[in-house]
Amino acid sequence: MAGINNKINSFFKLIVTKVIFNSPVRLTRSGWGKVMRNMIGSLFVVDVRKLLSEQTLEGKEFTKIVSAVRIGRAWRYTEQSRHSEADEIIQEVLTGDNKIILDVGASDGQASVELINKLKNRLKIYYLTDICFDVDIMVKKNKFYFFYPDSKKCFMVISNRFTFYRDPGSFLNPLKIFSMFALCQKYDEKKTRRINLLNPDIVKLSEDNNKIRIIEWDLFDKWEEHSPDLIKVANVLNRAYFKKKDIKKGLNNFMRILKEGGFLLLHDNKHESKWSLFEKKNSVLYLRKNRNGGSEIEKLVYESGDR
Ligand SMILES: C[S@@+](CC[C@H](N)C(=O)[O-])C[C@H]1O[C@@H](n2cnc3c(N)ncnc32)[C@H](O)[C@@H]1O
Repeated sequence: MAGINNKINSFFKLIVTKVIFNSPVRLTRSGWGKVMRNMIGSLFVVDVRKLLSEQTLEGKEFTKIVSAVRIGRAWRYTEQSRHSEADEIIQEVLTGDNKIILDVGASDGQASVELINKLKNRLKIYYLTDICFDVDIMVKKNKFYFFYPDSKKCFMVISNRFTFYRDPGSFLNPLKIFSMFALCQKYDEKKTRRINLLNPDIVKLSEDNNKIRIIEWDLFDKWEEHSPDLIKVANVLNRAYFKKKDIKKGLNNFMRILKEGGFLLLHDNKHESKWSLFEKKNSVLYLRKNRNGGSEIEKLVYESGDR
């Protein structure tokens, strides 16, 4: 009986995750009363318009707001201290100095600040990368905020009550019609303002630290900088965001980029912290250690590269 109950619970959890968290329409937290927020808390997202505030935001508050940004399928969601365990293993294997780290899909860089501080003198270069760090915002009637990446295709709209996302995956969701309608606003350069998605803490840290290089980089693209001793991929290359064949393509790219003798750390924080650490030897990635069953894409590493 307990087994059936567990299965039913997991089924409902899956539905909630699929339907609510991936919904192309969510409720903007600041536009609704406390009663509603308490009743159906999971439908709400933080009001990203706060990023335009004249006041300087604190690092923690900034991270909370940026986490509600979603570009295509990928959330910018991140959190302080979410990589503590994985950072420990990095400190353990990365002995010596002059180390080069490549942090892939780092979002606002808040979690990177912690690793940079832990590695300090061992670092030669810390590449903090993500697909983009700046977006344009166009405001209409003082209440509709349209968000555009460099491609000028609106990916998010925020009104007092609703937040609409462009999600290429949710074909079956009837709410997609509303989001498609809201998102079809033409980009007008004269009416836009550019904002930066980098956390004030990493901006400050990088000002007095020339070892930190902040670079816009798509993980499927060619890497033209120094080869890293360690590539950290946390909550980026997963089945919720990418197809299996694309995950393998990304893994092959990391394999090519990584130094011989270097490490690849794949980390997921879905329900618990799970990670897999690989070492590159003779151009093949070998598993060195994993935690809690390893990353969800651990097995795909064995299907990638020349084995
Ligand atoms: C859920 S966040 C993870 C942030 C951080 N690594 C962490 O674990 O807290 C996923 C990040 O991956 C980035 N991303 C998505 N597609 C990417 C791509 N093709 N190349 C590089 N980064 C990508 C997103 O912009 C987003 O910032």
